[in-house]
Order: sequence, then structure tokens, then C-alpha cells
Amino acid sequence: MFLKKLKLINFRNYDSCEINFSGNKIIFVGKNAQGKTNLLESIYYLATLSSFKASHDSEVIKWGNNNAYLKAELIKYDTDVQLDILINPPKTKIVKVNGLKKASYSQYLGHLLVVNFGISDLLLLRGTPSDRRRWLDDAISQIYLAYRDRLNKYNKIKTQRNNFLKDFKGNINLSSSQEELLSVWDEQISVTGSNIIHLRHKYLKEIQEIANLKHKNISLEQEDLVLEYNSTVAGNFNARNDEILSPEIILKKYQQKIKEKRNEEIIRAQTVEGPHRDDVSFYINNTDAKAFASQGQQRTIVLAIKLSEIDFIEKIAGESPILLLDDVLAELDKTRQNYLLNAIKPETQTIISTTDTSGFDEKFLEDMEVFHIESGKVIHG
Ligand SMILES: Nc1ncnc2c1ncn2[C@@H]1O[C@H](COP(=O)(O)OP(=O)(O)OP(=O)(O)O)[C@@H](O)[C@H]1O
Ligand SMILES: [Mg+2]
Repeated sequence: MFLKKLKLINFRNYDSCEINFSGNKIIFVGKNAQGKTNLLESIYYLATLSSFKASHDSEVIKWGNNNAYLKAELIKYDTDVQLDILINPPKTKIVKVNGLKKASYSQYLGHLLVVNFGISDLLLLRGTPSDRRRWLDDAISQIYLAYRDRLNKYNKIKTQRNNFLKDFKGNINLSSSQEELLSVWDEQISVTGSNIIHLRHKYLKEIQEIANLKHKNISLEQEDLVLEYNSTVAGNFNARNDEILSPEIILKKYQQKIKEKRNEEIIRAQTVEGPHRDDVSFYINNTDAKAFASQGQQRTIVLAIKLSEIDFIEKIAGESPILLLDDVLAELDKTRQNYLLNAIKPETQTIISTTDTSGFDEKFLEDMEVFHIESGKVIHG
């Protein structure tokens, strides 16, 4: 997969900007706060329809404007593809493939595939469960194309269900009509949520052994890595040893859990359990890495996971995704830096951002197409 052209209008600190890429290895160089991460974010957004740092679409729109526009021209399976997005909150964003408006995100996703690896990823294990869910959700959206729509549906149902729970004002003695209405929401949230949990299991199972292999190679101790999904409604899922639970089996557990939590949900007026509260754990030699691994060990885990994401996308899509490395090389020690650089295949289009190229060796820089970034302007060469 090759990104040929990128266009941004009113995205973050860019007024209007168009970049043509001719090389496969690209580097954005610039001082702090000039717009390097914003550029990578725009590519990521075009791929996943979400940002790796914003929690609301309005944040990516240039201050003082009402909408932002992104466009990408790429080559996939030797064919030209054009992607357009108009971000226009609170309206639903308009997404187009080859000029044709798509009615659902699942029809848009899957054309541009990326793996992003930034400094915040290095803190994945130190971060919050919500950081880890975001990582998982974005990765899965690119592989299982209906996932993003399902997730949006789940969040909508959750909001409506929460509003409904608020109406009870903490009174747990429901009338039969209230019981009936709540059971409709229970049914909807549990069916949608079960599908989400199922796909999260499936994805972790797929990358488990690839990640473990990478991890063994990077960690000098040949440590063993196991991923685990911690579901509030369906229990723990060990990606190595456990079978993926079908949505039907998850649903049974889910329904049971909703019954158990009935009074608590009414009193707190919110949906207290479900995929929006789940987490992922990482075990090194059977020890929980979130609690016990050193910073270096945690970085090795993230590196292994990121590399396994690339391999898995390549396996599924038949083509390498675009790799975005946001400032991350400088944060890795020489051993991990070299491992990462050697692991990147020549055909993987790689876009790196950095404040300083002096840490890179000459030979590495020779093959790079360099762009200088200054106050939301891009200068080639
Ligand atoms: N919605 C927005 N509208 C206008 N400017 C914005 C918006 N969001 C962020 N910015 C500005 O964009 C600038 C550049 O941000 P960016 O994160 O891309 O910098 P960077 O070049 O990656 O810097 P660093 O080297 O520190 O990581 C910041 O100064 C920020 O204030
Ligand atoms: Mg940055």
C-alpha cells in the first residue's frame, strides 16, 4: 500500500496543505509544536475514522472553523484509491471512496491501513483501561470492518439506556411497563456488546503468538508474553489457552450479569459493566506486566505488539500497512531501535516524525524523503 498524496484543510494547525509522496520512507522534521504529529494524525484519521489523541471530532478542526476536510490518494493492489472525509460536527462525518459517498463506516474502512506507533503507545501499559480499549478498537476497526459501526451503535445504546436509568431517580421498585422497557434496552446492549467482546477475543487470539514470537526475539531473556482480555461481563480470556467465546455464549453471561447488576445500575443511573469498562492485561512469564514489568520490559511488549499488528494486517490484507512512527525512535534504546528498523520491510511505507535527525545514521537518512514542517506548512527537501 502506498500513500501518494495527502490533503488537509482546516485540520489542527493546517489551513490548507497538500503533500505528494514519492518515496517509501518518509521523514517529517521540525521543531516542537509545528504540526508533525498533526500530519500523522490526519493519515491515521483517514485510515481509522478516529484520532489517536482527540476524544471528540471537534478537537481536530482548526480553531475558529466549523469543519475540516481530509483527502488521501493511495495505491492499493496496484489500483488508485481516493478517500475523502468531511468532519462537520455535530453532524455525522461524510466519508467517500473514489468520490462516492458511503452510508456506513464499514463501507469506507479497510482501504487505507495503518499502524501508528507513538510516544503515548509506549505508555500503553502505564495508561488507563480506556487507552488500551482505544488501541484495541482502532486496530480491530481496520481488520473487521463492521466493528466501528457496532461500537458506535453500542455507545449510542449505552447513552440512551443511561438516560432511561436516570428517569428512575434511584427507585429500584419498577412498574411492569418500566421493567418491560428496560428489558428492551438490556437486550439491545447485551447483543451488541457481546459481538464487540467476541471480536476483541478474536483479534487478541490472532496476534497472540505473533506478538509472543517478536517479544521473545527482542527480549534478551527470551521471555514469554501472553495477552489477556478482561471482560466485566464475560470474565477473563487468555488469548493463548482459551477458546474464543461465541457471541451467543457471551450473551448468556452478559444477561446474567445485567440481572445481578440491576439494582446497582438503577441506583447509580448508569450502565456499570460491559465492553466500555473492559481492559487488556499483558503477562510476562506469568507475571502481570502492568504491575511488575520495568519500563524497558513494558516498551518491549508494546514494540512486539506494534510489529505483530503490521504482520497481521499484512496477512489479512495481503499488503503491508503504512507505518507511522511519531517521535518514537528517539525514545527507544539502540537495541530496540535497531530491532524496529530492521523489522521494517522495504515495501512498508514508513512515515517518521522527529525533531532532530542527528541521532539517525547517515545510511538510514540517505533513503529517506525529507519534509520540513514549520507552523503548519510543509516544505519538501
Ligand atoms: N484544533 C486545532 N487548531 C489549531 N491548532 C491546533 C489545534 N490542535 C492543536 N493545535 C496546535 O498544533 C500545534 C502542533 O501540534 P503537533 O502536536 O502536531 O506538534 P509537533 O510538531 O508534533 O510537536 P512535538 O515535536 O512537540 O511533538 C500545537 O502548537 C497545537 O497548539
Ligand atoms: Mg509530536
